[in-house]
Amino acid sequence: MDTIQIKDKRFKTFIPEADILKEVARVANEINHDLEGENPLFLSVLNGSFMFTADLMKHLTIPCEISFVKLASYAGTASTGKVKELVGLNEDISGRTVVIVEDIVDTGLTMQRLLETLKARNPKEIRIATLLVKPDKLQVDLDINYVAMNIPNDFIVGYGLDYDGFGRNYRDIYTVVE
Ligand code: IMP
Repeated sequence: MDTIQIKDKRFKTFIPEADILKEVARVANEINHDLEGENPLFLSVLNGSFMFTADLMKHLTIPCEISFVKLASYAGTASTGKVKELVGLNEDISGRTVVIVEDIVDTGLTMQRLLETLKARNPKEIRIATLLVKPDKLQVDLDINYVAMNIPNDFIVGYGLDYDGFGRNYRDIYTVVE
C-alpha cells in the first residue's frame, strides 16, 4: 500500500485507479441509457471534478455539450458551510437537461446552493452526477441521480480532490491516516 505526505498529513491508498475507472464507466453507461436524445449540457464543477469529468466524457456516446463552472466552499479539511457565487456559466440553460458533474458531495450544501442557482434559470431538468458521496455527512435532502462510489466520512485526496490545493494530480484516491 502506498502512502503519501501532503503538508502536515499522511495519506494511504484507498481506492485504486482501476476501481475508480470501472465505476466511472458504469455511471457513463447509465447516463448514455437515460439521456439518449436529450442533448444534455454537462456542467463540471471546478476544480475538484476535472479528472472525473474527463474520464466520464470519454465513455459518453450520446450527443452532449460540456461547460465548466466554479462554486467553491471549502478550505482545509473541514467544510466551512460558506458558499460562493456561481461563476463561468455563459450558456442559456432554459429548457435544457443539465447534468451537474461534481467530485464529492459531503454536507451537500454546495450542491444545494448550486441547484437553487440553476433552477432559477428554468432548465427542463437538472440531474446530479458525482464521483463520491459521504452519506453519513449529508445534511440536506438531495436527489443524486448518479454516484460512482459511496465512502466513509474520512478526508480523502487524489483523482482531482485536494488538501489545501495539493494532491489533485494523483491517479488513485487516498485517505488520511489519523
Ligand atoms: P459540501 O458542500 O460539504 O458538500 O462540500 C463539497 C465540497 O467540499 C467538494 O466539492 C469538495 O471540494 C470539498 N470536499 C468535501 N470532502 C472532501 C474531501 O474528503 N477531500 C477533499 N475535498 C472535499
